[in-house]
Amino acid sequence: MNREFAARKPNHLIRIHDSRPDPLSVDLAGIKLKNPILLASGTAGYGAELSSVMDLGTVGGIILKSVTEKSRKGNPSPRIWETPCGMLNSIGLENMGVDALIDEVLPSLDGSGVTVLASIAGDTVDEYGRLAARLDGAPGVSALEVNVSCPNVEKGGIHFGAEAEATRAVASIVRENCALSFFVKLSAAVSDVARIALAARSGGASGLSLINTIPGLAVDPSTRRPRLGAVTGGLSGPAIKPIALKAIWDCYSATGLPIIGCGGIYDVDDVCEFLVAGSTAVAIGTVTFQDPERALEIIEALPRALSALGVESPGELTGSLRVWREA
Ligand SMILES: Cc1cc2nc3c(=O)[nH]c(=O)nc-3n(C[C@H](O)[C@H](O)[C@H](O)COP(=O)(O)O)c2cc1C
Repeated sequence: MNREFAARKPNHLIRIHDSRPDPLSVDLAGIKLKNPILLASGTAGYGAELSSVMDLGTVGGIILKSVTEKSRKGNPSPRIWETPCGMLNSIGLENMGVDALIDEVLPSLDGSGVTVLASIAGDTVDEYGRLAARLDGAPGVSALEVNVSCPNVEKGGIHFGAEAEATRAVASIVRENCALSFFVKLSAAVSDVARIALAARSGGASGLSLINTIPGLAVDPSTRRPRLGAVTGGLSGPAIKPIALKAIWDCYSATGLPIIGCGGIYDVDDVCEFLVAGSTAVAIGTVTFQDPERALEIIEALPRALSALGVESPGELTGSLRVWREA
């Protein structure tokens, strides 16, 4: 299988009219998804970008690009660098802000039939609380993803998700301010991701989403300059898959929470691995840049892949990893 990563623009339109609703459906912390295949935050924009290449109603759901209270411009260019089996990006938190999301994006998704998870990101614990309150009851939003891979400006810029207490504080304030299910999106670039996951659970998270990108650096030796304008970026794509699987297994074992698994998924076999490691649903990210139709291809291939593994539904695989134990 060729896992070379090459950016490629969408080149044709496809629609799949799925007539198999139930065998693939999953219950993700009380949200019924028609199948476990979601589009990952930041790789599907706000939906409209992909609606010209796919029927959004076919996927299990879309996780929108993270929004902050005010719109942001993001990082200086260049912001993307291709790596072996992956991609380094430093888009930063370029986004339209929560008001534009509510006023423009959510109405544009109305009628598309897609389950929408909005993603929030903040500089302070209070900003997360205000964002959660703003999106609570927003038309068309089924759940929140809470991106904690953001610098905590009140605590010297350490990412919220790098510290258990900060993660718990964010989860608590989101819980206090909104009745929606929410998934705390974790980074695996920490010494003990299960500890952070337990903190998210104690703050009231309905589930977890992992992993976010892994910090990395690419260098141009001839100029001695970094390849990215922001110097460092986040690595995604097949290169990070084993890291993601381990983090998912660790967090599933420690918390038992429903998990949206993400990180380097390339094809339907990867999806099955992510389910076995503990995911209830998965999010397809970077591979979408290479092949915008990949999520649909995976959905089409999933029934046969499940049947080859002797199961009928994705839920039967979730957390089914058989770990060797000493006799
Ligand atoms: C260009 C780009 C932008 C992203 N933007 C966000 C974002 O706004 N919020 C977020 O939580 N994750 C963001 N991510 C991380 C992805 O959602 C995903 O967690 C990560 O890329 C790993 O999955 P993948 O290897 O399948 O891409 C972004 C990733 C990429 C490549």
